[in-house]
Amino acid sequence: MAKPPMNDPVPSLPQDSVGRPHGTVVPTSRKPSLAWDDTIPRFWLHGSAMATHLFNGLNLLFPYGERFFIRAVLDHQSQIRDPLLLAQIRGFVTQEGVHAHEHDRYFDFMRTTGYRIDGFRGKFRWFMKILSRFPAPLRLSMTAAAEHYTATLGGLALEDEFIVHDLHPTLRRLIIWHATEEIEHKAVAFDVLQATHPSYLLRMAGFFIATVALLGWALAGTRMLLRQDRVDRKTIRAQRREVLSRNQSELPRTVWNRLRDYLRRDFHPNDIGDLALAHRRMAEVGLGEAPAASEAGA
Ligand SMILES: [Fe+2]
Ligand SMILES: [Fe+2]
Repeated sequence: MAKPPMNDPVPSLPQDSVGRPHGTVVPTSRKPSLAWDDTIPRFWLHGSAMATHLFNGLNLLFPYGERFFIRAVLDHQSQIRDPLLLAQIRGFVTQEGVHAHEHDRYFDFMRTTGYRIDGFRGKFRWFMKILSRFPAPLRLSMTAAAEHYTATLGGLALEDEFIVHDLHPTLRRLIIWHATEEIEHKAVAFDVLQATHPSYLLRMAGFFIATVALLGWALAGTRMLLRQDRVDRKTIRAQRREVLSRNQSELPRTVWNRLRDYLRRDFHPNDIGDLALAHRRMAEVGLGEAPAASEAGA
């Protein structure tokens, strides 16, 4: 199915919180002003070491990952003519740059609470250096897939009362802010890929590599942190069951369905309309303003 031109509204899709159609958002970067202090509990995700370190394990990948994504998209910028997509690329680059910076600050906080994360991050950096040597179209395809993952996980986090309520304000703000911006720019790498290398096979190759890399490294990071906290196997198993069984087992099924969507030939990230919820959550933490409208690209 042919995708509508970038600067046309998408009539069949729901509206966002201020009435604009999805697909026309130009990502706008915000500074979340996060206070990393000793009021944050060690297991800040409702006392669960497993849930906290699943989040932390994924987090450890972000800054190197985000810098990789930025480079992959910028390597194709000169081939893009559409002014809206060019404006979206600028927004994407700024958002990911601020994310990487904020996650570095979070790591400083983790170090002050005693976690040894630099060995793991060094190995991941080495791995990302290898991926950086891959051909530019494949790097872009991996980026588009990784952005589908971050937007999917961000959307699920925003829907989940367990995650967005009753958290320490710093973590709540971090999760809502990052998830929202991931949702705002989720289509940018994908649209650049479609504009420059619209091969389904290439999209699937990137998806496969991104899936294996993301899953493998995020779980390795989670395991490393659980080991440092000396969490025993019995507790890990019980807390893993707890994470998976919430929402009447909807979580794994939803994740699976969202990932299967990506395999559809006519898939587009804006098929999933979670922007209105994201902006509602942003208002809840005082980061309320919705991003600039599509005219910014003109
Ligand atoms: Fe990000
Ligand atoms: Fe992103």
